[in-house]
Amino acid sequence: MSTRRILITGGAGFVGSTLALSFKRDEPGAEVIAFDNLRRRGSEVTLSRLRAGGVSFVHGDVRNREDLEAVGAVELLVECSAEPSVHAGYDGSPDYLVHTNLLGLIHCLEHLRRTGGELVFLSTSRVYPIASLRALPLVPEGDRLVITEGASGPGWSRAGIDEHFPLEGGRSLYGATKLSGELMIREYVEMYGMKAVINRCGVLAGPWQMGKVDQGFAVLWVARHVYGGELAYMGFGGEGRQVRDLLHVDDLYELVRLQAADLGRHNGAVYNVGGGPEVSVSLRELTRWCEQVSGRSVPITRRPETRPADIPYYVSDCSRVRELTGWKPTRPAGRIVEDIHRWLIEHRAALEPILGA
Ligand SMILES: NC(=O)c1ccc[n+]([C@@H]2O[C@H](COP(=O)([O-])OP(=O)(O)OC[C@H]3O[C@@H](n4cnc5c(N)ncnc54)[C@H](O)[C@@H]3O)[C@@H](O)[C@H]2O)c1
Repeated sequence: MSTRRILITGGAGFVGSTLALSFKRDEPGAEVIAFDNLRRRGSEVTLSRLRAGGVSFVHGDVRNREDLEAVGAVELLVECSAEPSVHAGYDGSPDYLVHTNLLGLIHCLEHLRRTGGELVFLSTSRVYPIASLRALPLVPEGDRLVITEGASGPGWSRAGIDEHFPLEGGRSLYGATKLSGELMIREYVEMYGMKAVINRCGVLAGPWQMGKVDQGFAVLWVARHVYGGELAYMGFGGEGRQVRDLLHVDDLYELVRLQAADLGRHNGAVYNVGGGPEVSVSLRELTRWCEQVSGRSVPITRRPETRPADIPYYVSDCSRVRELTGWKPTRPAGRIVEDIHRWLIEHRAALEPILGA
């Protein structure tokens, strides 16, 4: 019997490396390949970790078809490579974003069409339009914004945003590349009989995320509490009441593994995937978690101006995927902060130069 081959593009990144190592741990007989161009700062730190976990590494770029061809046929491809910042392209050319997120995905699809193999795609909650999310009826309640009691509309309620949320309107170039990618996947499923599933992820968090202001705010928040430095409540009046759900990357892995084990069942499906209302935090609440876990507090300034892609509230309603699979997140916000905190302390020498202020 030939060895099952699993390719994780963006495999030296936060999500990709975690999925690659977890697949290898649970399926030691499989050949798991992490493919990455090492663009994200910190992804190079991951290479020794991948090696130690028995994951092969290929230095390649999804923008080049030949780099994927050189890997050869795989049974499963998990597409985690991306320029993942929602602010990308606003102050310059969108070239890198479009070529990686969209053209890179098309190269993955082409590779699978020619060689066989199934796809799990990490899309984003940012496919939902900014103006419609900003128009949700929100009111302050304690340290956070909440949807007004009893209010609901197409694709939203107090349970969160579901897959029926209307798609008309601008969503950022990042969101547009992901939504365009989803449309291409749909065509490959219909036209070529490819098996693929799409997960529209909210905010993912956990150890090995090289957090920045514009991507990976949970790690950035904990890192400032451990290594020192300032933070800012940015946008929406600078009050820190904006809310996101957080999904621990290990919870995501558990879902991806379920899907990969039975892709026929999920074929062509689009799921909202996140921590949901139970694992949601406002920035103020996140600050409190960080203070509690680290025993420190840091100066936090207020920057009232809202950037073009900022949204005040996003919480995933994961009912669709939960009803089909029974999957639900099991790691609460406090556990996410604790895991990140432990990781920052254990790997201080390697991480402080990257994540320090
Ligand atoms: N982290 C989140 O909160 C979040 C939320 C929703 C969706 N996602 C999606 O999940 C996926 C993984 O995100 P992440 O948080 O691990 O980001 P990440 O930046 O940590 O990882 C992405 C990896 O892709 C690599 N990469 C970039 N351009 C490449 C290219 N042209 N060729 C090959 N590799 C390339 C980077 O070097 C990096 O290692 C992305 O598709 C992202 O859009 C992430």
